[in-house]
Amino acid sequence: MAPLEGVSDTVFRQIIVSTAKPDLFFTEFTSADGLLSRGSDAVSENLLFSPPEAPIIAQIWGNNPDVMYEAAKLVAGRGFAGIDINMGCPDKTVMKNGCGASLIDTPETAASVIRAVKNGIRDAGTTLPVSVKTRLGTRSRVTDTWIPFLLGQEIDALTVHGRTAREMSNVPAHWDDIGRAVRIRDRMGVRTNIIGNGDIRDARRALEMYGRYQVDGVMIGRGIFQNLWAFDRSPAPHQGTPRELIRIMERHVTLFAETWGSRKSYAILKKFYKLYIHGFHGASDWRVRFMATTTPAEALALLSELSSEL
Ligand SMILES: Cc1cc2nc3c(=O)[nH]c(=O)nc-3n(C[C@H](O)[C@H](O)[C@H](O)COP(=O)(O)O)c2cc1C
Repeated sequence: MAPLEGVSDTVFRQIIVSTAKPDLFFTEFTSADGLLSRGSDAVSENLLFSPPEAPIIAQIWGNNPDVMYEAAKLVAGRGFAGIDINMGCPDKTVMKNGCGASLIDTPETAASVIRAVKNGIRDAGTTLPVSVKTRLGTRSRVTDTWIPFLLGQEIDALTVHGRTAREMSNVPAHWDDIGRAVRIRDRMGVRTNIIGNGDIRDARRALEMYGRYQVDGVMIGRGIFQNLWAFDRSPAPHQGTPRELIRIMERHVTLFAETWGSRKSYAILKKFYKLYIHGFHGASDWRVRFMATTTPAEALALLSELSSEL
């Protein structure tokens, strides 16, 4: 399951564990500078996870090798299955600071960052896989230079999101370029696993891509908003019934309140309501009512009203 900032926190990941669990989770991206700064408590909440979510990889972002070194050292002792470096975020503020996808245009810095993360893990006295998640370019596709460059850095896995930063998510993912990355890897004779990413809705389609493009894995992001059972591998993935979805939403809201208290805004939960409240007569009116709630307690009260009517 893809890292999804503002979505894939420990609470939502626990929900996904209870529906259909992916082989591997990633945390939301976590600022290395933030981890080392005074307000680091809020940032390190991104790194909170519970045992059933394992295996899970921590994703960090930054472009200062010294900071990335310290962040990796810190993260290495927290029980993660690996550390992933974000080199794909197209956010303007992130890129303006030379981080995320803008590392594609500064390959020497990218290489230093990778080295720093490896050294941080080593100096924490442990061994962990190091991976990178990237795009095909910033403004135009530079697959044929950028991918071999990254593959020359001895990384354990490389997730290729098949779009440039400028393309955001506005065009279909260029899966042919992902296939090309696999061929480049084979030609170079390195062991890096290639994970393809972009527009894959569920496990069934992921398995198709796995066969067609010879990737080692497929990452699914927004597909989870279409079906909570996106990672169900059966030929006909489960679709929740309205009652089932409501029970899951109850658990989501409760777990959110227990885990975050007032530390995270209740508004975050509203992103999920469409996922739970659909598929029955009057669902859109109920959604309007849920969107008007302002606390978990209000949402839970409304949920019990709804379940008595369904
Ligand atoms: C709401 C949202 C948050 C995201 N947050 C992150 C993130 O923290 N780190 C990251 O590497 N990519 C992030 N992405 C990109 C996704 O991981 C993924 O690469 C992208 O959505 C394409 O995959 P998909 O078509 O399966 O959704 C985010 C995407 C969305 C929609």
